[in-house]
Amino acid sequence: MSDEIQYTDINKSFEAAVEKSKIIEADLLVNPKKYRVLTGDRPTGNLHIGHYFGSLQNRVRLANLGVPTMILIADYQVLTDHDAFDKISQNTKQLVIDYLAAGLNPEKQDVIIYPHSYVPECNQLMLPFLTLVSNAELSRNPTVKEEIESAGLKNVNAGMYTYPVHQACDILFCKGNIVPVGKDQLPHLEMTRTIANRFNRKFCLDMGKEPVFPEPQALLSKTPMILGLDGSQKMSKSRNNAIMLCATEDETAKMIKKAKTDGERNITYDPVNRPEVANLLMLISLCTKETPEAIAARIGEGGGGMLKNTLTEALNEELRPLREERKRLEAQPDYIRQVLLNGAEKAREIGIKTLNEVRERMNMMI
Ligand code: TRP
Repeated sequence: MSDEIQYTDINKSFEAAVEKSKIIEADLLVNPKKYRVLTGDRPTGNLHIGHYFGSLQNRVRLANLGVPTMILIADYQVLTDHDAFDKISQNTKQLVIDYLAAGLNPEKQDVIIYPHSYVPECNQLMLPFLTLVSNAELSRNPTVKEEIESAGLKNVNAGMYTYPVHQACDILFCKGNIVPVGKDQLPHLEMTRTIANRFNRKFCLDMGKEPVFPEPQALLSKTPMILGLDGSQKMSKSRNNAIMLCATEDETAKMIKKAKTDGERNITYDPVNRPEVANLLMLISLCTKETPEAIAARIGEGGGGMLKNTLTEALNEELRPLREERKRLEAQPDYIRQVLLNGAEKAREIGIKTLNEVRERMNMMI
C-alpha cells in the first residue's frame, strides 16, 4: 500500500482540525444543505451532562440550522470492546430518549436516527474497504491502541482493529462530509479520508469515472473538556463521577454535594491551580451563560457550599424541560421503536443508492 496513513500526532492534527472547524462553522450558516452531518454513539448506557454540553447541544443546533443530520447508534461497535451484550437494545432505546428529549426531532428536522446493525448496505461496504487498508495501518491506529491498553485487553479480537474501517462505512455510506466528534476520534477520520481517497482513485479516477466519496472533515465542538465531579478525569458513568441526564433533581443535588473542591474558601476561577473548583464554575457557566470569572466573583467568600448550591440550582433548572420530556418519552416505547425503524428505513434508502454506485465502479453490476 503506497502512502501509508501516518496518523498525525493527535495534538498536531487537533490544531489543524480546530482551524478547519472554524471555516466549516462559518459556511454552515450560509450553506447548510451543502453538508451532511454524520455522528453517533455506542449504546453503552445513558448519557450524562458531559455528553449534553459536549455534543448533544451541538447536534441540536446543527439540526435546527437545517443541516441534514444522521445520528447513528453504533451497536456493532459495542461487541468489539465489551463482553456484555445483554443491554444493547435497552441502551439503544435509552439513547434515543436522551436524543429526543434534548431536542433532536426526526419529524420536524432533517434528522435520521438509526442503529448501524439495521443498515446492511452500510455494513456491506466493509468488504471492499478492508481491501484498501493494510494490517499495519490498522494496528498502528493510536485510538485503538489506547483503548486496548486502558482496557487491559490481552486477547484482542479482530473487530477491535477493524472497527475504524466500519466507522468509515458509517460515514461514507451516506456520503457524510461533516463529523462532529471529540479529539480521540481524529485518527478514525484520517482513516476514513484515506479509504475514501483510495476508493476514489482506484475504482473511479484511474478508470476515468467520477469519484463516489467525499472527504469528510471533523467538526470539533467549542466546549472545553468537562471533567467529572472528582475534578481530575473525564466525566464518565463508569468512573462514577458523572451526572446523568436521567437523574432526578435530588440525585443531582446529592452528586454535587459529594463533588471535590479544595481547602481554599474564597472562590476564584483558576483552571490550572484549582481544576475542581474551575470545573464546577464552568458547568454553572454552561447553564447560565455568564463567564466563570463573573460567577466566581459573585460567590467569593460564599465558599464551596455556595458554589455547589449555585450549580445544583442552575443545572436542575437547565435540565428540567429535558427531564420532563424524558419521562413523557419513557412512557412511549412503541414510539421510540418507531423512530429507530423509520430511521433505519431512510438510512437504507440512502445506502442502497451508494452501494449501487460502488458496485458499478467495482464492475460488479449484473
Ligand atoms: N467510535 C465512536 C465512539 O466510540 C462511535 C462511532 C461509530 C462514530 N461510528 C461513528 C462516531 C461514526 C462518529 C461517526 O464513540
